Amino acid sequence: MSAVYLLLLLLPLISAQTTRWGPCPTPQVQPNFNVQQYLGRWYEIEKLPASFERGKCMEANYSLRKDGTIRVVNTQIYKDKVRVAEGTAVIPDVREAAKLGVSFSYFTPYSPYWVLTTDYSSVAVVYSCTDVLRLFHIEYAWILSRSRFLPPETVRYAQELLIKEGIDVFRMKMTDQKNCKDN
Ligand SMILES: *[C@@H]1O[C@H](CO)[C@@H](O)[C@H](O)[C@H]1NC(C)=O
Repeated sequence: MSAVYLLLLLLPLISAQTTRWGPCPTPQVQPNFNVQQYLGRWYEIEKLPASFERGKCMEANYSLRKDGTIRVVNTQIYKDKVRVAEGTAVIPDVREAAKLGVSFSYFTPYSPYWVLTTDYSSVAVVYSCTDVLRLFHIEYAWILSRSRFLPPETVRYAQELLIKEGIDVFRMKMTDQKNCKDN
C-alpha cells in the first residue's frame, strides 16, 4: 500500500486531532518520576483538542493494580451523562519512568503518555506524540491539576513549559470544570 493511499485513509481520522509536519519532538520529561506519588485523582484544566474528549468535568484516577500495571479511570460529563472509560498504563522502561504508555482497549497499542513535569501535589503537564511515517505527527497535551481550579500563574507556568518544547499552546482548549458534581 502506498504511503499516499495510507495518508488518504488516515485523513478523516487525523483531521479531528492535532497534526503537525515532521517527526515528533523529544521534550524533556520529569526526572526521577515517582509513579506512587502520581497516583490518585487529576483534573483536566487545558488540553490540545482531542476528538474523544468533548465533554466537561474531565478527571482521571490512577491506581496501582496487583499485577503492577496502572489502572486508569477517566470520567467526564458528556450530554449530561457521566461517561467512564477504563484503561491501563504501563512504564515500559523504568530508567525513563516518566514515559508511560496508556491504552484504553485490548486491541489498541499503548499511546505515549509523557509526564513533562509534575510536583505531584498541584500540577502535571502531560504530552503524547505519535509519528506517522515520520512525515507528520499527531500530538496531545494536557495540563492537569489536583483540584478543579488551577491558579492562572500555574497555568502560565505549564503553558510556558510547553512553548519551550515547541508545543502549540494557542490551540489548547480550556476544560469546563464548572458545575461538576463533587462528592
Ligand atoms: C481511585 O481509584 C481507586 C482504586 O480503584 C479507588 O480506591 C479510589 O477511591 C479512587 N479515587 C477517586 C478519587 O475516585
